[in-house]
Amino acid sequence: MALEWDAVSYEALADPMTRWGAAFLERLELRGDECVLDAGCGTGRVTELLLERLPGGRVLAVDASEAMVRAARERFAGEGRVRVERRDLLELEVGEPVDVVFSTATFHWIPDHARLFRRLAAALRPGGLLAAQCGGEGNILRVREATERVMRGERFRGFFEGWEENKEYAGVEVTKARLEAAGFERVRCWLHEEPTRFDSVGKLAGYLRTIILRGHVEALPEEERDPFAVAVAREMAAMDGPLLADYVRLNMLARKPERETATTGVSVQEG
Ligand SMILES: C[S@@+](CC[C@H](N)C(=O)[O-])C[C@H]1O[C@@H](n2cnc3c(N)ncnc32)[C@H](O)[C@@H]1O
Repeated sequence: MALEWDAVSYEALADPMTRWGAAFLERLELRGDECVLDAGCGTGRVTELLLERLPGGRVLAVDASEAMVRAARERFAGEGRVRVERRDLLELEVGEPVDVVFSTATFHWIPDHARLFRRLAAALRPGGLLAAQCGGEGNILRVREATERVMRGERFRGFFEGWEENKEYAGVEVTKARLEAAGFERVRCWLHEEPTRFDSVGKLAGYLRTIILRGHVEALPEEERDPFAVAVAREMAAMDGPLLADYVRLNMLARKPERETATTGVSVQEG
């Protein structure tokens, strides 16, 4: 099962993810009556924007974190167009296939993309759309460099012995190949940069602890979590240039074929 999250802090800090989610949504052509799966909905900030695009549609919002699911359920209480379910996307099964799978800021937290894409393809109706954005190749290199230096330092070294980062910042070509292997066609993938500035070391440290270093702090006892995040933020402040997280996003658009050939299972386009 995936990590637990601090949903209250995430809700307060997720402005960058919400901004990118909004921009990604803007480029999607939706009729407005689709049934959309939001894969990794978090507290539902982006789900809410998705819902605005679906006046006659519905959203199935899923997330593996109990705290995130609770927060999303509170957000959409009384909203009949949204159902929130606690699910691991790697085990996903939906009763009714959806028209669109939408996801933001989630797939890099799930290392097994090949399996993830197979589960998402299975959840889509024939002809359905996958539209997703997550951390991609080259993501937060400066942050990772600073983090590694702090992890190697005397204070924290012992906690990280044998610890491995469980993230997948995939590139364009490997993602195209994985999506096609999962049965998708008309696959488009691209990377873009989203450098994100912070006003102060304190603000950056809070953001790192809740979001970017979410997995790292799990390896630490409670009393070392804030000091670790502060040490990484200070290390970043000591680097050349402005105080920023050098985000790179991987975007993907792909279609599930209208039908499969009965004999080979190879997908073909109708018409
Ligand atoms: C950074 S948050 C993104 C939330 C939201 N989509 C947004 O853009 O603000 C990543 C979310 O992915 C969820 N997640 C990670 N691994 C998952 C998995 N295997 N199955 C379902 N959700 C998962 C986490 O619980 C978390 O809520």
